[in-house]
Amino acid sequence: CGIIGYVGADRSNAADVLLHGLSQLEYRGYDSAGIALADGKLDVHKRQGELSALENALAGADIGNQTTGIGHTRWSTHGPPSDRNAHPHTDAENRVAVVHNGIIENYQGLRDELSAEGIDFRSETDTEVIPHLIAGFLEDGLDHEAAFRAAIDRLEGSYAVAAVFAGSETVYAARHESPLVLGLADDGTYLASDVPAFIEFTDRVIYLEDGEFARLEGDEISVTDSEGRVVETSIETIEWDPEDAGKSGYDHYMRKEINEQPSALRECFRGRLDELSGRVTLEEFEGFELNPPVTFVACGTSYHAALFGAQLFREWGVPAHAYLASEFEAETMPIDTDSVVVGVTQSGETADTLRALREANAAGATTVAVTNVVGSSAARETDRVLYIRAGPEISVAATKTFASQQAALTMLAAALSNHRSRDLVRELRSVPDRIQSVLDEDAAREVASTYADASAYFFIGRGYHYPVALEGALKMKEITYKHAEGFAAGELKHGPLALVTEQTPVFAIVTGDGRRAEKTIGNVKEVEARGTPVVAITDGRSEVGRYADHVLEVPSAGEITSSMVANVQLQRVAYWTAHELGRSIDKPRNLAKSVTVE
Ligand code: G6P
Repeated sequence: CGIIGYVGADRSNAADVLLHGLSQLEYRGYDSAGIALADGKLDVHKRQGELSALENALAGADIGNQTTGIGHTRWSTHGPPSDRNAHPHTDAENRVAVVHNGIIENYQGLRDELSAEGIDFRSETDTEVIPHLIAGFLEDGLDHEAAFRAAIDRLEGSYAVAAVFAGSETVYAARHESPLVLGLADDGTYLASDVPAFIEFTDRVIYLEDGEFARLEGDEISVTDSEGRVVETSIETIEWDPEDAGKSGYDHYMRKEINEQPSALRECFRGRLDELSGRVTLEEFEGFELNPPVTFVACGTSYHAALFGAQLFREWGVPAHAYLASEFEAETMPIDTDSVVVGVTQSGETADTLRALREANAAGATTVAVTNVVGSSAARETDRVLYIRAGPEISVAATKTFASQQAALTMLAAALSNHRSRDLVRELRSVPDRIQSVLDEDAAREVASTYADASAYFFIGRGYHYPVALEGALKMKEITYKHAEGFAAGELKHGPLALVTEQTPVFAIVTGDGRRAEKTIGNVKEVEARGTPVVAITDGRSEVGRYADHVLEVPSAGEITSSMVANVQLQRVAYWTAHELGRSIDKPRNLAKSVTVE
């Protein structure tokens, strides 16, 4: 989601500033948008759909000449996209309007408490508890700022929140684990979840830290800590070209999204892992009776995640199999009312996957969607939905959504097969930090530049690393336009070995020192003996490094979670190779983010 707030120093048109800001934030989500203007009576406008729907609705409205307001572009996490669920949200008497990013974990308790006091909720969002809480504190006699702080104090979870009050020219904001940046200009003050929202108006910014509160009034900003003490802030100057601002200073969305993986995964795990019991709890699957086998359908990158997910189910005692959605025909398979069919689809709109799910529905199967898009077709048409919570992905080549699919499917397999393991839960929790350590080093870039002229690239892996080998090759071919293939390591000798030459580096994923690692090392030796360059993606626990020309390190852990980290090394090799070759990284030729034809 994206947040914008503005207080003009003189009579200025806040609505224009807010709408412009939202247009710059649409990359953060685009299923509904809204603004609230506050100078007089609170004036809230919101619409489901892209920003243009809101702009059309505002075309004839009397919204000029106001100084103060907030706006929001939404990416649903609670409640499907609709006018009612769009932000801003208000209290019953329209005294306060609120926009919010993040997830309020204790919202159900707060909602029950407020409902018991007689408050009618008008949306299905977690956010709506905030204006009602604030209104309650106003009724207790607190002033605007005190009521805002008291309400924030009741929230658990992650949030960036901004609020305006009827008849007031002040914007209040608070953050906890969700970004907020403040902007200073001669004509007024700004706040946003990301700089692009206002970079056209000012490049002087203050980054709000966790636990801090901000008050914007005219051309002044005050920042305080949770105790209300004034915080010394430093003003930074942003040096990006406004054109690139959506990418937060990165050259490409792909690079930004690769780097967002630690935070995307934390979001995916939030509230779902219990370290003490080793249990995974998915509230979406409460009361779900698993009836094996589990059949996965998916395309492209999502299919690789599905292969990974099916393997996990099997490992934990549940027969499972992944099909390419385009090859799935319910009538030719034993799919009936006892079957469970899981569609893995980032967008939730891929035609092949939707068709497969529809056939499964028609055959009476129980269907499940694992998707990133709340309210997508796949989410609406299936019996249960598991959201991967990766946030919007703009680059055509999927990166962070693959990591989040791996994570979500690991949790799904553990939850539905009743697999309890403290080690697994602990390892999952450490994946974001382990990925961060990969992101912090440069080895992948060096490897990419060494082999940018190669004639083809091969990727091999066994077990959980096999789908990662396939994904490594898919990333490479998608964005470099060069020949790349992934193989099960054991298959190399059954044909592909005829292709390896000194011009075809082989990337081998080998972690741990068990049986699988030993066998893959055997395959690596076959390659190395033919003078083919070898790049090992390894935790150094086996001797694969000895046979490799380059090593890309992954911190040591079990194979399941190591595969998530190893994949990031391969994403980076593909990215830097395409960079070296000057390719159109975010929009590769002939490809589309979401393919809505079969
Ligand atoms: C397209 C994209 C791929 C993606 C596939 C499945 O082909 O180019 O990157 O993996 O669709 O997309 P989905 O949204 O179903 O995960």
